[in-house]
Parts: sequence; C-alpha cells; structure tokens
Amino acid sequence: MNAIHSVVLLLAALMSQTGAAEVIYARVGETVTLQPTGGINLQKSYVYWIFDREDGPTLAWCNPLGGKKTSSDERWKDRLSLSDNSLIIKDIQQEDFGTFLFKRADTFITTYKLLKLNVSVDPSAPVLLGDLLSLSCDAQRLQGHKDPEIQWLSPSGVKIPHSRGPHIVKATSQDSGQWTCVVTNDKKETTAKVSVTVLDLSPASLHPQYTSTSWPLTVPCSFPAHISWEQIKAKDIQKVQWHFVPELGLSPQRLFSLSLEDRLTWVADQDKGLRPVPDPKKGNLSLTRNQGREEDKGDYVCTVEFKNGVTLKRTVHVKVLQIISSPGTELISGQQLNLTCSLGHPLPSDLQLKWFPPGQLSLTSLTSDRHPAHLTIPEVGTGAGGKWRCELWQKNTRLTSAEIMLKIEPKMSLWMLVVICSVTVIVILLLILVFILYRRRQKMTHLRRRLCQCKTPKPKGFYRT
Ligand SMILES: *[C@@H]1O[C@H](CO)[C@@H](O)[C@H](O)[C@H]1NC(C)=O
Ligand SMILES: *[C@@H]1O[C@H](CO)[C@@H](O)[C@H](O)[C@H]1NC(C)=O
Repeated sequence: MNAIHSVVLLLAALMSQTGAAEVIYARVGETVTLQPTGGINLQKSYVYWIFDREDGPTLAWCNPLGGKKTSSDERWKDRLSLSDNSLIIKDIQQEDFGTFLFKRADTFITTYKLLKLNVSVDPSAPVLLGDLLSLSCDAQRLQGHKDPEIQWLSPSGVKIPHSRGPHIVKATSQDSGQWTCVVTNDKKETTAKVSVTVLDLSPASLHPQYTSTSWPLTVPCSFPAHISWEQIKAKDIQKVQWHFVPELGLSPQRLFSLSLEDRLTWVADQDKGLRPVPDPKKGNLSLTRNQGREEDKGDYVCTVEFKNGVTLKRTVHVKVLQIISSPGTELISGQQLNLTCSLGHPLPSDLQLKWFPPGQLSLTSLTSDRHPAHLTIPEVGTGAGGKWRCELWQKNTRLTSAEIMLKIEPKMSLWMLVVICSVTVIVILLLILVFILYRRRQKMTHLRRRLCQCKTPKPKGFYRT
C-alpha cells in the first residue's frame, strides 16, 4: 500500500516538474469539474485549489477533519463548490479560462488548463431547405501543446472531419437536429452540441393511412412542434394547399387552400366532407372526417410554398378497407355466402386480417389460411345474421376495421308463407261455399212458401196461437 502511495506521489511530482498540464475544454456558461488525478491519499492533508499561478488567489481548501471553504470573492461567489476534493465551477465565465492549480500541503500536484470551446451555427434562426448553414467549432489552442482534433457529428451520426474554418452545409431535412462537435485532446474527448432547425414538414409516415366506413379518417400533414408559425411566416410563406389524386394518372383536384391573411382560414374548393384541423397556426395542417368513405382512397398531397421557390410537399396514401358480400347483404338461410375483406389489392405481407363474426358463430371452418381475406359459407344459417367485422392489423397495432350488416331470413318463413296462403285460400273457399249454401236455402224456403200458399190456403187466425 505504502509502495503504491509513494509511486503515485512520485508520478505526481514528476508531472508537476515536467509542467504537464491537464487540458480541459469548456464553453461559457457550462459547469466544469476539476478532479485531482490518480488515487492520491488525501485523507490526512490540507488541499488547496488555486487560480492562475502558484501565489494566486485560493479558490477553495479542505482540511483533514473535513472542514472546507470556498472563495467568497464577488467574482466566484456562488459558483464554486467542493466535492471529495474536486472543484466544481458553475456557469463558466469568459475570464475563468486559464490555469487552476491543485496543491496538497506544500506540494503543487496538478495544473489544469481550462480552455475555451466555442460552438456556433450561423444563422441561428431556422433555415429553409437549401439555405447555407455555417457550423463553427473553435477550440482555444495552448502554446507548446499539440492542437486538439476536431470532428463534427451530424444529427444522423455521420462523422465529418474538420478542416480549417467553419463547416458549411446546404440545409437538408437530415441536417435538422443536434450537431455535435467532438474535441479530442490527449485521447480525452469533449463534446459540445449546437442545434439546427431546418424548416420542413414532419416526415410522412412510411405506411398509408387506413380507414373504412366505420373508422375515422385522418390525413396528416404538420410542421414539427418546435417550429412556430412566426418562424414559418418569417421565411415568406406564400401558399398552403391540399390536393387529391383519386388514382394514378388522373389529374389532381384541389381540396383546400389556406388564406394567409392575418387570420389564417382554410378555403374549400371541394372538401369531400373533410375538415381541416382548427387553428393552423399551431402547424397542424391535417384533414379529418369522423368516418371514411369508399371514395376516399387515393393520394392526398399537402404543399407549402415559399417565396424563394422552395416547396415542401407530403403525400399521404389513403386505403379503404371494405367487406364485400356476395350475393348481397340480405339472404335466405341455406344460400351460399362469400365474404371478402380487402383494400382493393393483395394485402402486403406485414399486414394481417382478423374476422369477427356475429354472436357465437365459429370461424375455424370458414377461413382458409391461404386466403384469410375470403370467407365462404356453403349454406348460411340465421346465426350468420348481424354485424360482421374485419380488422386490419400490423403486428400489435390495429390499423382499421370494417363492418357489414347481414340480414338472413329463415327458410322456414317460405314454408310458412305457403301455409298461410293455403289457409287463406281454404278459408275463402269455405266462405264462398257457405254463401252459396245460404243463398240456396233462402231460395228453397221462398219456393216452398209459395207452393204452400197455392195448395192449402190457411185461415187467417190459424197462425195466432
Ligand atoms: C393534428 O391533428 C390530428 C387530428 O386532430 C391529430 O390526430 C394529430 O395528432 C395532430 N398532429 C400533430 C402533430 O399534432
Ligand atoms: C363463392 O365463391 C366461389 C369460389 O370462391 C364461387 O364458386 C361461388 O360462385 C361464389 N358464390 C357466390 C354466391 O358468389
């Protein structure tokens, strides 16, 4: 233990003798921690942090009993603290860059050179696609020391070696985000970040928007939340429009345009029942409807034009899930029923369909694994009547679901109809028979009376009894 102790002390002494200084890079405003090097046992000694030179002002000290104090000088006030002999300097000021010394009892052990790192981007305000950006990373140099190595890391993590002067880029959407300057000095890395905002619409979803007649429709298009409308306006925005392309090759129809007067208002050309999200100033230009429609399928194009000719554009593909019943939605039990759930084209392999028949109906016998989109029921029963649902899934996400109502009349009713008709006919026949009989009886009575009158005229008082 003692041997190691001595070696470390020796090393420390050698370092101070050779004047080797530890270089630390920092930016104005940052917090820096100066850590005594090596595992020097400092428990039993006084330690001091001194600024600038050996007889410079003491910034902090610490005694073996644990007592410590930091400078109360106005210049350092509330910015210094000690933690395990390390000196922590908050909110680095321009004039703090310089030399810091660490002293144990009477021995100067380590010298620290706090050097300035300056990272900036010009312009600092958001830029449009194609605008030039100038990224600077200046690391203060130390006389007699090798210059540090400087490298930029783009927001997507691409390494860009630094040559003299600032790094100039023509802004693309990939340049939006945090740029990191990596300064390497004595194999020690210091990083400094600077943020770049390239005005662009949020990336379009890689997948289409799915809807159905029993599912809401959202056609998304928006600026990222960190871009304000003021910043967009500052770039001379000229036109915001929505177009609809029903099918490839057909000419686009304009749905909406945004009036860019003081109060932003959407003007509809042909709204298709769609509503723009209120308050476009929040950067949300999306269109919505409570329910999809069959004719919604197609491409929706959102464009934002600027005065300098830059046009931002996002295309949203909308697909409509539908259940088609053959021969129809009103059937008689016993008929063959084919149900098809589809987007109008073969299903991409990463999507799955799930059927939900009404009531207790079991599906297992109806679907084939090879064509989950088709259901065939050779003889439909009344149990198949009701709401059928078909859901479109991607992994664990339900994308949309479609529904269809089937009405299945029992076959019995046809027989009942026959019975009812027959009974009616029989009743009518019976009535006619009764009527005929009745008439015949009446006629007979009449005849008989007349016959009686001629043969034996009865005396008048005979009936009175
Ligand atoms: C825009 O509005 C739509 C509809 O209200 C919503 O679904 C979407 O999340 C909003 N987008 C953003 C970026 O806020
Ligand atoms: C149902 O589909 C089968 C083949 O898949 C076909 O032969 C049959 O005619 C269809 N039935 C109806 C009612 O459409």
